[in-house]
Parts: sequence; C-alpha cells; structure tokens
Amino acid sequence: MSINKIAVVGAGQMGSGIAQVFATAGKTVTVYDISQEIVDKSKAKLQKGLAKQVEKGKIDQAKADAIMANISYSADTEYSDIGDTELVVEAAIERLDLKKSIFQKLDKATKADCILATNTSSISITEIAKVVEDKSKVIGMHFFNPPVVMKLIEIICGGNTSEETYNTVFALSQEIGKNPVTVDEAPGFVVNRILIPMINEAIDLVQNGVASPEDIDTAMKLGCNHPMGPLTLGDYIGLDTCLAIMETIFTETGDPKYRPSLLLRKMVRAGKLGNKTGEGFFKH
Ligand code: CAA
Repeated sequence: MSINKIAVVGAGQMGSGIAQVFATAGKTVTVYDISQEIVDKSKAKLQKGLAKQVEKGKIDQAKADAIMANISYSADTEYSDIGDTELVVEAAIERLDLKKSIFQKLDKATKADCILATNTSSISITEIAKVVEDKSKVIGMHFFNPPVVMKLIEIICGGNTSEETYNTVFALSQEIGKNPVTVDEAPGFVVNRILIPMINEAIDLVQNGVASPEDIDTAMKLGCNHPMGPLTLGDYIGLDTCLAIMETIFTETGDPKYRPSLLLRKMVRAGKLGNKTGEGFFKH
C-alpha cells in the first residue's frame, strides 16, 4: 500500500520535523496540535528554517515553496477534518494517558484502514493499541531528533501489529530517505535503552561532583567522538523527556540499574528542561 496522505499529531520539535520530512518527500501532511498558537509557531519555524536553507543554497525557492504547500495545520482536537488520511504519526508528549486519549479519538475519526503510528520514545505499542478497535494497524515509528537530519527510524511492532502494517511502514521509511531498523517491543527499544541511561549516568556524575557538566561533555566528545556531550544532548532532547523514558525503562524492567538520577528529577521539578525552557545543564 502506497501512502501519500499523512497526519502528524503534535507540533513540537519532533512533530514539526517529522512533518517536514514527509513534505520534503512529496507527501501531503496535516499537522495537528491543541491550539492555533502552537501550530502557527510550528509553521513560522518551518518557514524560517526553509528560508535559511535557501539562503545557504541547500535548496531552491521552488523546493521550499513546494514543501510549504504540502503542509497544512489544524487545531481541531477531534480530528474531524482528517478525512481519507492513510497514516497518522502521533508525536505528542511522552504520557501514556495522553497518547491513549489521542488514539481513541483517531480511531473514531480516521478511515478503517488508516495506519496509526506512534513516535513514542519508550512506551509499549501494545499498551497504546488497547484503545484501538483494530489493533493490527497500530505500530511504532520512532524518529530521532532532529528528524530532518537523523537517518534512523526504529520500527516497532506491538503484540497485535500485522505484517501488512509493518511492511507498509518499513517501505515508506525507505521511500522518504530514512534507514529503518526493526526492533522488538522492549522498554526504550534500542537507541533509548542505551542512550538515556548514558545521559542519566552523566547526570549522576554531576550530582556526585565527579566533574563539571562542561568537562563531562568535553570528555565524551573528545574521548568517544560523540557529536554532542551527554548533558548537551539531554538538554537538546528535553530533560522531561529523558526522565519520562528512564521512568518507563525503570518501571517496566524493575531493574534498579535504570533508577532515574535524583538530580534529573530535581531539574525537571524546577522547570529546567533544557533548550526548550532556556536552561538545563547549560543556558540556551
Ligand atoms: N532541523 C533541520 N536541520 C538541522 C537541525 C534542525 N533542528 N539542526 C541541524 N540541522 C542541519 C544543519 O542545517 C546542517 O545542515 P547542512 O550541513 O546541510 O548545512 C547540519 O544539520 C549540521 O548542523 P550544524 O552545522 O548546525 O551543527 P552540527 O554539525 O553540530 O550538527 C546535530 C547538529 C546534527 C544536531 C549534531 O550535533 C548531532 O548529530 N547531535 C546528536 C543528535 C542525536 O543524538 N540525536 C538523537 C537524540 S535521541 C532521540 O531523538 C530519540 C528520543 O526518543 C529521545
């Protein structure tokens, strides 16, 4: 099944980037969020980003215009205008109750064979699918930040995902120029199961006074050739998202080695979430 009409739920950094990836590949995309103000901000950010790419000579004005023309925005939280959309990618915040409520509404609003994908970073696909009547069409399609740059998509089948749904999403991921990997359902999947405990460990080192945030990041950049140090990356992902992922891995496995750092909890409670709030381990 070829997919051409897509909806993205969530106009944050991931949702906006995912919509851009699809629109660049020539797909028709509608981006949904809960207020006009949020979707307007997403649109303005995309316009600015595309203008920069034109200025740098990466794309021409005609391509930028075509990408913009492929994306529309909606603040309809019942998705009543979703029509004959063939695939939805949900990219809302990492909260199971919220994702379930979105999937319940999507199940009612979309046509019977519309694939319902989630960009969850760690939550069980099988659990999210519980609120959908036909669970065979629910799947994980996990993009990485920034979606426009990062080549990987983790494709995660839940306990009831059909082979047809998996094949369609795998082929689409390749068609849009990404490199899909197939991952069995497990807390944190592959990347976040390795990456987020590493960031958590870096935060524990700050808490224990082993080294400064600057030196920890320098150590990992120069010692492991990582493009960003773990604390810069934690700020970039969002410390609230990092905490939510650690909580999921910790709760699901029951293994104390995944205990979230107390400093991470404190930073999130203090509203120091990283780039999006202007302060995390570094000022932005
Ligand atoms: N949107 C679009 N393009 C972007 C971008 C964005 N947000 N950020 C950077 N780019 C583009 C730039 O325009 C530039 O493109 P050109 O080469 O065509 O000019 C290119 O990416 C490189 O950017 P910069 O020169 O500004 O900076 P850089 O070389 O330091 O790269 C980076 C920036 C790509 C973000 C790099 O630092 C990096 O790879 N960092 C690690 C990112 C990472 O680990 N992501 C995964 C996070 S985990 C996750 O997402 C999963 C989850 O569930 C939490």
